[in-house]
Amino acid sequence: DINALEQKFQARIDAEQKIEPKDWMPDAYRKNLIRQISQHAHSEVIGMQPEGNWITRAPSLRRKAVLLAKVQDEAGHGLYLYSATETLGISRAELIAALQDGSAKYASIFNYPTQTWGDVGAIGWLVDGAAICNQVSLQRTSYGPYARGMIRICKEESFHQRQGYQIMIELAHGTPEQKQMAQDSLNRFYWPSLMMFGPHDSESAHSARSMQWKIKRETNDDLRQKFIDQTVPQIEYLGLEHPDKDLKWNEERGHYDSGEIDWEEFQNVINGNGHCNRQRIQHHVKAHEEGAWVRDAQNAYDQKRRARKAS
Ligand code: 3HC
Repeated sequence: DINALEQKFQARIDAEQKIEPKDWMPDAYRKNLIRQISQHAHSEVIGMQPEGNWITRAPSLRRKAVLLAKVQDEAGHGLYLYSATETLGISRAELIAALQDGSAKYASIFNYPTQTWGDVGAIGWLVDGAAICNQVSLQRTSYGPYARGMIRICKEESFHQRQGYQIMIELAHGTPEQKQMAQDSLNRFYWPSLMMFGPHDSESAHSARSMQWKIKRETNDDLRQKFIDQTVPQIEYLGLEHPDKDLKWNEERGHYDSGEIDWEEFQNVINGNGHCNRQRIQHHVKAHEEGAWVRDAQNAYDQKRRARKAS
């Protein structure tokens, strides 16, 4: 009966066993994974737009080549994660439809505009830096295909973060105008980067179940704290001002106490009212439609091949 199955399943999770596509799993586990992994994939793909906006505007050939490589990596990360989601019994077409009709989310950070070259540095440094905190932890997630995808993705992320921080170093240690550009980008991307870790644990709809099933290995607030602590010396090294005026070292906690995130802005952006939400989805729909002929050609080729094999 279902209870016995669920107890056996939880015992496997507690014993740190990886759950594989063909294994029995509670429907709610399957649904939670489809939700989280597909939204992770959507984030990777939509995240290509803000950075892609600067590929033709990069200040040098080297910067253009590095940014091009990073944006291509993000596309690949999206494909690993869509493939991992499809092992749970849902099609790519259904996933894309959910993104385009707004019923599926993607990381709110990608609804912010990239107004200067400094933003490309801040995204690599802070957004990929936050993603690394989250994704290193997710390498130990209980679902096999997701964990293995994370291990591959984490290898590429560190290059993303380092190239972003290198841009920030050059700007912050450059002319006064360049330093101001770096400060402006830090000011606009710092708080939205903290929102990437999700609401506070007390407000989090999914965290309790996700921790029990070891989908999540650390909570939103713990991962956010790790990111806040590691970013302080990085800001100091850049010689920039920390955007959080309430930041204070707390000796007995051994962590920084930080100011409050603007959760109204967070809700606004994830409910579709950020700066670029409409534009990001319109762009995705347009690109998807323009690419339909490639999918049709692939399907026609597959049918021909199957027919040849069958004859
Ligand atoms: N942006 C958009 N939605 C967010 C969000 C954010 N920053 N933070 C939370 N949410 C959503 C959740 O998806 C959930 O909504 P849903 O029920 O419709 O899915 C709701 O807010 C409540 O949040 P919870 O904490 O209850 O949700 P989770 O337990 O899923 O935690 C999460 C949120 C920490 C993002 C978790 O889903 C997770 O770890 N996901 C995998 C990592 C990921 O998706 N990262 C996105 C960035 S990828 C990236 O940056 C690539 C880099 O290379 C550029």
